[in-house]
Amino acid sequence: MISIQQETIPKAVNTEPTPANKLLRKSAVLWLVVAFVGQWAFMYYLVAFYGQSIVVGDLEIWNRLEAVGAKPYIAGDAMGNFAFAMHALGASIIAFGGALQLIPAIRTKAPRFHRWNGRVFLLTVILLSVSGFYLVWVRDAASTSQIQGLSTSFNGLLILAFAWLAYLAIRARRIDSHRRWAMRLYLVANAQWFLRIGMFTYFSISQMFGFGGTESFMLLWTFGCYLVPLAMLEVYFWTKSNGSTTAKSAVACTLVALALLMCLGIFAFGMFSQLLISGAPLEF
Ligand code: HEM
Repeated sequence: MISIQQETIPKAVNTEPTPANKLLRKSAVLWLVVAFVGQWAFMYYLVAFYGQSIVVGDLEIWNRLEAVGAKPYIAGDAMGNFAFAMHALGASIIAFGGALQLIPAIRTKAPRFHRWNGRVFLLTVILLSVSGFYLVWVRDAASTSQIQGLSTSFNGLLILAFAWLAYLAIRARRIDSHRRWAMRLYLVANAQWFLRIGMFTYFSISQMFGFGGTESFMLLWTFGCYLVPLAMLEVYFWTKSNGSTTAKSAVACTLVALALLMCLGIFAFGMFSQLLISGAPLEF
């Protein structure tokens, strides 16, 4: 039987509606709204690009991604191509359902939806991690470097660990702990989205200001795409509970700045993915 031991909120948590708390909350909502829009645009890309290729039976169009160093379609590798197709289409479930889980109004007004969407999300992240391990270590995708393979594998281990911890917490009705592990899971499960948005933000800014360093950034961002969002979340948690007014305002400003940078990346990646879908020449 499940024991009901609702986790008590630590006394230190300051939830009074002070201006600093309100600012922090509003900036977090803004960040989430931007992420939500970007992830649904990503879902559209995944379904339009990969779904279309399956419907018309032309898997070779996946290799339009060669422009960014990826070559997911391998002629004659039926098993590998199938695993990749399921992996890419499964990712659209994560892009669709992840942010919905974090919206408090949905949790309280539609708890059944929250539970079912949560189960689908958990099952999908497990399948994506397992298929991801297959793509890296068995299929040995020519387009995946050793360092990318290590990074995505570490990401996969974090996904499995956080999914397990979020599940254990909800089984034990430790709601606050579940919420925290679910938020960590949401970030690591969206690493592929952060990877693209971060890269396209960097491309856009480096083109605007005429500086280079793209290769070094891409190398760092291979790990940063999940470690930076995770670190930011921990800073947010800590500041929300223990931070001074100045710390809360600083974190709120950082979240707004990140949301603006994400808008740039979402727009740039949106333009690029539109070219991929339409088959037009790629220029970025
Ligand atoms: C919930 C977690 C995951 C999501 C949402 C996800 C999403 C994606 C997406 C959308 C693509 C296609 C990329 C594109 O169209 O540009 C992809 C490719 C790939 N993913 Fe994942 N992925 C996840 C977990 C993993 C893990 C844990 C690994 C490794 C252990 C992995 C390894 C790969 C590989 C090797 C490719 C293909 C690269 C290539 O052939 O070019 N993924 N993933």
